[in-house]
Amino acid sequence: MCGIVAYVGNKEAYSLILKGLKRLEYRGYDSSGVALLENGELNIYKKKGKVSELEAGLAGKELHATIGIGHTRWATHGEPNDVNAHPHFSNNRKLAVVHNGIIENYAAIKKNLISKGHTFQSETDTEVLIHFIEDIQAETGDSLESAVKLALKEVVGAYAIVVMSVDQPGQLIAARKGSPLVIGIGEEEYFFASDATPIIAYTKNVVYLDDYEVAVVRDGKLSIQNLDNTETIPYIQKLEMELEAIEKGGYDHFMIKEIFEQPRSIADSMRGRLRSSDSHLQLGGLSNHLDKLAQAERIVIVACGTSWHAGLVAEYLFEELARINVEVEYASEFRYRNPVIKENDIVIAISQSGETADTLAAIELAKSKGATIFGVCNVVGSSIARATHAGAYTHAGPEIGVASTKAFTAQVTVLTLIALATAKQKGTISEEVFRQLLTELENIPDKVEKVFENASKIKEIAFIFTYARNFIYLGRGLNFPVALEGALKLKEISYIHAEGYPAAEMKHGPIALIDEDMPVVFLATKDSSYEKIVSNIQEVKARKGRVIAIVTEGDTLIPGMVDFVIEVPETHEILTPLVSVIPLQLLSYYIAVMRGRNVDQPRNLAKSVTVE
Ligand code: M6R
Repeated sequence: MCGIVAYVGNKEAYSLILKGLKRLEYRGYDSSGVALLENGELNIYKKKGKVSELEAGLAGKELHATIGIGHTRWATHGEPNDVNAHPHFSNNRKLAVVHNGIIENYAAIKKNLISKGHTFQSETDTEVLIHFIEDIQAETGDSLESAVKLALKEVVGAYAIVVMSVDQPGQLIAARKGSPLVIGIGEEEYFFASDATPIIAYTKNVVYLDDYEVAVVRDGKLSIQNLDNTETIPYIQKLEMELEAIEKGGYDHFMIKEIFEQPRSIADSMRGRLRSSDSHLQLGGLSNHLDKLAQAERIVIVACGTSWHAGLVAEYLFEELARINVEVEYASEFRYRNPVIKENDIVIAISQSGETADTLAAIELAKSKGATIFGVCNVVGSSIARATHAGAYTHAGPEIGVASTKAFTAQVTVLTLIALATAKQKGTISEEVFRQLLTELENIPDKVEKVFENASKIKEIAFIFTYARNFIYLGRGLNFPVALEGALKLKEISYIHAEGYPAAEMKHGPIALIDEDMPVVFLATKDSSYEKIVSNIQEVKARKGRVIAIVTEGDTLIPGMVDFVIEVPETHEILTPLVSVIPLQLLSYYIAVMRGRNVDQPRNLAKSVTVE
């Protein structure tokens, strides 16, 4: 969602901020803007649409400043237009702010400010916040830093903000609660951003701001205090991310780059954790908690979107391997119920970004009920990773395409490792099966590579179905969540309506949709449901549905029954999703490209959904 980039130092702030905003485009947004201090004047430039439109509008202008703040806005309060775009001025136009998050009590604050004579240009909660800061400063006569702290004590909601003032030309003030903010520390320069991607080209030294912390850069020095003025020593971390990981590297889109990265990202998610030769399996972050997992009466998984699908795969894994009852919850539903959480329940939160607002809120709720929370996150140092008691990173590397691909397979891999480690601890798995599964996990990257040999065939199938209006995806067992994931991938990037179902559910309703115009994707790999899925295919073919079947290499039965087959290598049934999801990712990608969609930044979507 919204993105922040701010800079103070010796470089040209405008081009640096603009580059940073482009790095944040993947988060999803609908307008952008910058505020610059140029020759003692605080100027704001902003525009609806892409950063390139802002850039085009400013082309030819001499914009010289060494301090500035920039923003990409994903509209919440007020439609996406030039006026609602950030940054926003205070009433006297001496202060400017960029803000991610939502100020829930903005209406009451605004009413009070209007009664004091403030006038507002936009419909945003953000403009109210900066007017409020100005008002507090005027009333108290305190420094801007104090006014920011006092204002933040009054507001309800979530925020990451950066404030600048025309009166303090070398000063930036930033704060966060519930919305991420990273500070990059360079040579006599500082960077602020919503994530590390705009910073990595300049410095690897970063500080992750914590909730209720206020960072101030003044006279070239960084200090961090909480809202009650208690000083904390900035904890400087080294970024492990490399620049090429956030660039397209010759691919047309990040999504296809990330699909093809999966042999490596799956291997990375296992690296140093398993060795089949001596049955070694260890997840550093969880090794002290395996007893707790093994003794759990129940595991509750909370997640959203693709991460929720990975949770559904994990349900099968934990039940099958470790014989633990699992419930998989949409975080957004869980947080607004009054869920029954018992002391020896374990909650596992799954999130690529580690910033999803609903998942974060579900964690806080479960925590308040005394549950132990483990996290499976991709982004190191993210809010969810920090809110959980322990966890395992997926190490898939930065995922820039909005449609999650390599993060899903990395999540499934790590969840498989956790389920296996739990089963071993609990004694619910034999040595032989344990070792067999470790060996097969090591083979998965090669098997995924093998699926890519079918890429041109998948492209041909995509061409045939480019203008389909609907799709149905069907699977059973571990392939049911894969069917859901395939349908989600297709709808989010191609805007074709798609539904995923357990194959046997089809006859309880969706079968009415089947006719010669309905493409039906079957996950029909050789597993314990194979005979059943063959019957389901026959039911669809009897009604003239057009079937694309994902089958195991060497299958001779299904190719004779269906319209198109895509083969995937044989693997252990438990690991099937790791190979069967790959053709579905490719199919969605090629269809979306052929329809001319903006694959990496589909309409209305955001990469990290930081509002509920
Ligand atoms: O960052 P998270 O894994 O918590 O995000 C959850 C969903 O927003 C995300 O998976 C979303 O569904 C993706 N667009 C799917 O491709």
